[in-house]
Amino acid sequence: MAGPFTRMISGRNTAVLLASLGAGTVATGFLLSENSLAADARTKLYPPSSDFPDLRKHNNCMAKALTPAIYGKLRDKVTPNNWTLDQSIQTGVDNPGHPFIKTVGCVAGDEETYEVFAELFDPIIKDRHNGYDPRSMTHHTDLDASKITNGVFDDKYVLSSRVRTGRSIRGLSLPPACSRAERREVERVVVTALAGLKGDLSGRYYGLEDMTEKEQQQLIDDHFLFDKPVSPLLTCAFMARDWPDARGIWHNNEKTFLIWVNEEDHTRVISMEKGGNMKRVFERFCRGLKQVEHLIQERGWEFMWNERLGYILTCPSNLGTGLRAGVHVRLPNLSKDPRFSKILDNLRLQKRGTGGVDTAATGDTFDISNNDRLGKSEVELVQLLVDGVNHLIESEKKLEKGQDIKVPAPIAQFRK
Ligand SMILES: *[C@@H]1O[C@H](CO)[C@@H](O)[C@H](O)[C@H]1NC(C)=O
Ligand SMILES: *[C@@H]1O[C@H](CO)[C@@H](O)[C@H](O)[C@H]1NC(C)=O
Repeated sequence: MAGPFTRMISGRNTAVLLASLGAGTVATGFLLSENSLAADARTKLYPPSSDFPDLRKHNNCMAKALTPAIYGKLRDKVTPNNWTLDQSIQTGVDNPGHPFIKTVGCVAGDEETYEVFAELFDPIIKDRHNGYDPRSMTHHTDLDASKITNGVFDDKYVLSSRVRTGRSIRGLSLPPACSRAERREVERVVVTALAGLKGDLSGRYYGLEDMTEKEQQQLIDDHFLFDKPVSPLLTCAFMARDWPDARGIWHNNEKTFLIWVNEEDHTRVISMEKGGNMKRVFERFCRGLKQVEHLIQERGWEFMWNERLGYILTCPSNLGTGLRAGVHVRLPNLSKDPRFSKILDNLRLQKRGTGGVDTAATGDTFDISNNDRLGKSEVELVQLLVDGVNHLIESEKKLEKGQDIKVPAPIAQFRK
């Protein structure tokens, strides 16, 4: 029980959490079986084999990892908040996925989900994070933005720069599982803390329920507003319940530091601005995050974190840093070159359309961001994005001049 869990078990619910981690003593074993009995008496009438979901047409990480044996071992377990395996995987059962786009297919209901159901979540994490093994590897956090070099891009190519992550409040269930009271508690804790931000970070909170038409239109025009989740991926994960209760957006007066409350995660933290100064965007991101964490800690709360998984978020794909650093960049020549996709892959970058996650990457302008989340630090991921985008811009300039370009050698995912 040493090491990885020390931070986790320093919080509340220690005894129950130890039980869920399988500490194995008589006392904690008793707690576990108490919880199990309470889980859902109905399922107990049938063996797990009768309950095993039909996953034959599925293409998601969960469907690949879930075997009848694992299901049999985990079906009747519950986390200290009574979250079950079936609740975790419902989104992946109901959404088989696309033949070419492999989704994750499960969500966490609370921090302990990743421990109680580790036999399923560990292989999913390994699959989704390109071989990161949560049992043998550790994750490293680094929010020292001064280490970034060459982080200012040519505005002729880079139109905007953005860094986002998520943070969860330890001791409160995550959006798929939270009660109304817990969701309102998240909002209260976060908004109270944010009121303490000073200087260029000071701003105000706009609750979705209380927003005027004018404020709403302004936030839509600024591309700030998030909408009620309609994607079946999210609704089948129970994330749109009670909408818009306790959801909202906080932003600083300059609209360069932004926090979503109770969307897919307890919080999504975003730093952004027009132009190519990624270094400044990341500097504000790190400074803001550290201040928010400090303000939350002053009130007796902390973020969910451990050294195996980094920051704990709702979707296993966002574990680790939860970080997506991206730019909108104009690449009219390079994007028409047949080697474009290979170059992005080798630089460990991904492209999206500039309209968001679901939009096709067509035209001249692309949303280019880091591919990885777990196993590299925030500084490493932003530097990787910076070096990659500089490479793309150099290649674009060469093509403009009619010169040839090279495909760079693949970058390793993990540090040696
Ligand atoms: C979990 O369920 C059991 C049995 O119904 C109940 O006693 C316990 O309070 C529940 N725990 C939580 C956190 O709701
Ligand atoms: C390549 O760049 C040049 C110079 O900016 C531009 O004139 C040309 O239209 C670009 N080619 C394509 C295919 O967009």
